[in-house]
Amino acid sequence: KKSQAWSALFSEPMSELVKRYTASVFFDKRLWLADITGSLAHAEMLAAQGIIGADDRAAIERGMAQIRSEIEAGTFEWKLDLEDVHLNIEARLTQLVGDAGKRLHTGRSRNDQVATDVRLWLRGEIDLISDLLKELQTALVDVAENNVEVILPGFTHLQVAQPVSFAHHLLAYVEMFARDAERMADVRRRTNRLPLGSAALAGTTYPLDRERVAVSLGMVDDQGLAQVCQNSLDGVSDRDFAIEFTAAASLCMVHISRFSEELILWMSQNFGFVKIADRFTTGSSIMPQKKNPDVPELARGKTGRVVGHLMGLLTLMKGQPLAYNKDNQEDKEPLFDTVDTLKDTLRIFCEMVGGQLNPANGQKEGGITVNAQAMEDAAKKGYATATDLADYLVKKGLPFRDAHETVAHAVKAATSHACDLSELPLAVLQGFNASIEKDVYECLSLRGSLNARNTLGGTAPAQVLSQIARHRTRLA
Ligand code: ARG
Repeated sequence: KKSQAWSALFSEPMSELVKRYTASVFFDKRLWLADITGSLAHAEMLAAQGIIGADDRAAIERGMAQIRSEIEAGTFEWKLDLEDVHLNIEARLTQLVGDAGKRLHTGRSRNDQVATDVRLWLRGEIDLISDLLKELQTALVDVAENNVEVILPGFTHLQVAQPVSFAHHLLAYVEMFARDAERMADVRRRTNRLPLGSAALAGTTYPLDRERVAVSLGMVDDQGLAQVCQNSLDGVSDRDFAIEFTAAASLCMVHISRFSEELILWMSQNFGFVKIADRFTTGSSIMPQKKNPDVPELARGKTGRVVGHLMGLLTLMKGQPLAYNKDNQEDKEPLFDTVDTLKDTLRIFCEMVGGQLNPANGQKEGGITVNAQAMEDAAKKGYATATDLADYLVKKGLPFRDAHETVAHAVKAATSHACDLSELPLAVLQGFNASIEKDVYECLSLRGSLNARNTLGGTAPAQVLSQIARHRTRLA
């Protein structure tokens, strides 16, 4: 009994070492459902085209149903000898239904089969990731909505720059995750195209109806038109969709990583701006007082591994001649790990930011806790309203460059008195410029500064509220 799908030509069996080296079943078996789905669509089309009989098709469906339940029950026996998910399933099918199982592979190669499976599988994962991105955006908008009037120092160069609304700060991340979702939708369009029918590399002699298969697998555009890879050589060897996905995932992880870095800073005792729920922190085995932000730290760390997968995939493809090469088998582990890492990270961030649903009262509990006082106290350090004073002088007729210089003197004076600009007496301020009046204190206040930035995209509460409304409509 031969153990390989091609053995008649070979004078000796494959060495055990080579078998283990070339086998992929222990990681590609996660494609099993996509593999069965693709095979059923192929068989349906073969029968419709009269290439196999209706009885063969029925037998294949029966066998696949059985295999499906065996895999779901955990009783399916995966064999290293059978190399990969495709040959394992096909061998079992033939064992179950005989010749009909052997007819399934008519007009098909593992080259177009595996490319189809990966695309089908990834399409489903992209949909899950898109849902999670939406959930995370909603969680951030929820926290933002409760913190429109909360002021924290905005930084440039990590030096206090100007006061901003905490909601505004969070909504910056919503913008990033919204772009990530757009990118995922775009990658999905190019993932959702059918390689099947390309066969090994050159197409096939059988009268396949590729568009029929595409439609039955849902590989269609917005108008419902079949999306089929138009060149057989490209169809079997294209892994752009995997690279694009990993690039989009890398960027999304970079956004998570930046947010993580801020959470870690904000949680440190020297900021004390926010707390995350205890279940997302860990203690120290030596220092009894510690609550460490392990989840954001690990997310920051895992970003490196996803970016690494992107480099791995790009490097995997760069030297490959057309068409299929076994190198392509190496696309799976980086892709799988990228999907797992991104999904786990998004899931944990949804809960860490938004909290957990308490079924008793239907409320979300245990998300980010905001210390508004600590944020506001921090915003009062570092002369965050210096720009406002300069703008005030401009409104009094000073050229901006002169106003800038005047305020620099005022900041110097306040620094030497160890006080804020708003704590300098009117007479002292008037010493810098005679046109300064009592109303200056309004613009030197954090709230006055915030309210004044009332242009589209600015941090004034009115603007922030209208952004929240826009996001609510968009995410509904
Ligand atoms: N396990 C292989 C892969 O992942 C399937 C395709 C193998 N094709 C071949 N001609 N060896 O790429």
